[in-house]
Amino acid sequence: MKFLISLLRLLPPELAHSLALNALHFLYVMGLSKFIFPSSVTGDSFIYRNLNFKNRLGIAAGLDKNGDYIDSLGSLGFGFIEIGTVTPLAQAGNPKPRIFRLFNQHAIINRLGFNNKGLDYLVSKVKSRKYSGILGINIGANKDSEGQKRIDDYIECFYKVSPYADYIAVNISSPNTPNLRALHARENFIPLFSALNIARSEQDFANPVFIKLSPDESKETISDIIKAIREYGFDGIIASNTTVDHSELPDEASHKRVGGLSGKPLFQKSNELLASIHEDDHDLFKIGVGGVFSAQDFNKKLESGASLVQIYTSFIYEGPGVVSKLLN
Ligand SMILES: Cc1cc2nc3c(=O)[nH]c(=O)nc-3n(C[C@H](O)[C@H](O)[C@H](O)COP(=O)(O)O)c2cc1C
Repeated sequence: MKFLISLLRLLPPELAHSLALNALHFLYVMGLSKFIFPSSVTGDSFIYRNLNFKNRLGIAAGLDKNGDYIDSLGSLGFGFIEIGTVTPLAQAGNPKPRIFRLFNQHAIINRLGFNNKGLDYLVSKVKSRKYSGILGINIGANKDSEGQKRIDDYIECFYKVSPYADYIAVNISSPNTPNLRALHARENFIPLFSALNIARSEQDFANPVFIKLSPDESKETISDIIKAIREYGFDGIIASNTTVDHSELPDEASHKRVGGLSGKPLFQKSNELLASIHEDDHDLFKIGVGGVFSAQDFNKKLESGASLVQIYTSFIYEGPGVVSKLLN
């Protein structure tokens, strides 16, 4: 496995990601993945509301944006899987190259920009899945949608995914869609939250709704948003998305590179956000994500207030073996 991962490092990142996921899918379809990645993973099961998570580790949004790999990722021992971010219309995302691996820092900078095949495609994939574990669906807005149209995009996604989602994650924190993070401001999140609230009751959606937050906002902004999450009766938050603050990185070139930073340099920052929200509100449900590479990191997220933990970058760097490394 180590050899294959080293080989993939030689390829451009986006090609490597797609090859790795397709290989995983192929092994799954051939019935081989259970031999190659024997899922000896245990971890403690966990129940939240009526949802039974077989363990507390999940795959974060963005790895399977379209729901193409639900069954194969589901066979690796994760306690839950989050797919998306999906937008109503298919879109190409930003020009390539748009993913940059920083090997020495165990980090990635990406500026993908919600490249995805659109809502109808994702829903068709979700409907035909065999995976029976917990599936979260992460929703967003198309790049060109502004003002009310942007809110309408979230609502359209909400309506179409809610019959199939064990939870819905509302992504207001991608740094790669212009002005999306402006949804952290009260005048923008109140109309969005009101519309989501109406959609939730019209759809009779009884499962959790989580808001995925940016690690780059001020304490006051986060406090304001947490208050509103409580007022609207949403379940909780996912902390956090990638950061645009690259000052942790040692080299000048990476400081200037546009995009969201994930992996080890995000660990501290995303933990601080998580812990400060926990301090503010113990009862709010929290999913911790950002820079988890070891069992110690995983436990640190739980200690900082998370009930569930997600990974993305460590999965890219270490492959499926990271699941048992973190849980056992
Ligand atoms: C290449 C890439 C694409 C991502 N795409 C999305 C996305 O579509 N939606 C989203 O909510 N988060 C997305 N993320 C953020 C991750 O879900 C996660 O919040 C972040 O990477 C921090 O976790 P990590 O340090 O374990 O990678 C993406 C991250 C990366 C590296």
